[in-house]
Amino acid sequence: MAKINENYLKLQAGYLFPEIERRVNEYSRTNPEKKIIKMGIGDVTLPLIPSVVKAFQEGVDEMSKIKTFRGYGPYEGYRFLREAIVKNDYIDRGVKIDIDEVFISDGSKSDTGNIQEIFGIDNTIAITDPVYPVYVDTTIMAGRTGKMQKNGYFDGIIYMPCTEDNNFIPDLPESRADLIYLCFPNNPTGATPSKNDLKKWVDYAASNNSIILYDSAYEAFIQEKNIPHSIFEIEGARRVAIEFRSYSKTAGFTGTRCAYTVIPKELMAKTSKGDSYPLHSLWYRRQSTKFNGVSYPVQKAAYAVYSDSGKAEIRDVINYYMKNAGIIREQLLKLGFKVYGGINAPYAWVRTKENIDSWELFDKLLFEANIVATPGSGFGPSGEGFIRFSAFALRENVIEAMDRIKNIKL
Ligand code: MLT
Repeated sequence: MAKINENYLKLQAGYLFPEIERRVNEYSRTNPEKKIIKMGIGDVTLPLIPSVVKAFQEGVDEMSKIKTFRGYGPYEGYRFLREAIVKNDYIDRGVKIDIDEVFISDGSKSDTGNIQEIFGIDNTIAITDPVYPVYVDTTIMAGRTGKMQKNGYFDGIIYMPCTEDNNFIPDLPESRADLIYLCFPNNPTGATPSKNDLKKWVDYAASNNSIILYDSAYEAFIQEKNIPHSIFEIEGARRVAIEFRSYSKTAGFTGTRCAYTVIPKELMAKTSKGDSYPLHSLWYRRQSTKFNGVSYPVQKAAYAVYSDSGKAEIRDVINYYMKNAGIIREQLLKLGFKVYGGINAPYAWVRTKENIDSWELFDKLLFEANIVATPGSGFGPSGEGFIRFSAFALRENVIEAMDRIKNIKL
């Protein structure tokens, strides 16, 4: 009989968001009359912007005519989109990225997990706690960990707690890490580092020959000046970092699917013989073997994000969500909660009161106020005692949710 990958058996029962959905569906089944407001998973609610829709439709139209029909696209994505990315997301911010260093993909979730394939199994991985669960779960699936300990940590992972004490910006790891996942603006805490904070990481990686896997899927939500949008704004980062970006939250593409990953050509890792090898060419090899690219209409739709009208429309959408975040912050602060994030990120990270645990507050919110939020402990042991509110809801629902919370005892 074929054998399973037993690393999967080490995983926590279910991926966090399906588990939340299961509990919500169960509640809805027995309470069908209740109107549930979802502020759990960070899924967008506003439709695609008009410029994107128009480009998407034009792309589909081109696919319907013999002269403009396209089959397989380039494995690394169409040049027109990669050019627009380099110009708008990097050069305009003073960062030099080559067009060939950009790989278009169907999502940062898959890229941040799949990237591990191009690294040897014996690399040590450092991960923040709390964290976007994909980094931990894919590390476990790959077989890079032992079992889960009593404290919820897996043997083999270097955890970097992000707590109120360090303003949710991790300290450098105590032992050497080969690969380091960082996500800023952070999911789930909403924390953002200063350039100095990030510089420490780049310097650490440079002196330890480590590689930073930098997820900046939420950079478009940064409101304050002087906060880095890209790790490549930091000198020396090209030799130590890979960056992941996504249109999911920026442009409402959670269902449309488009993202990109930047791998500088000078970024190297070692073979077992000690020779340096470029990661860029390994990722190209991986993608061209296992991935046939994002559809032409979707890449055309993503390209429209960079048009003048697209930029203006996107700004309105982001402002809308960030105003939601402001309402959540303000209302919960008024109710005496400690609230973090929600200023440069679409997530508010909220301390539970009277030491009730994250799932208890989740249940209370669901059963008494019919609101779904994400229990902090689902993001890791240091998330215990917190709950995350997503600002990606419709305004009227955010206002109603905050009203409902006012009327229950939490
Ligand atoms: C989240 O809620 O943390 C995100 O929506 C998950 C994701 O982007 O995959």
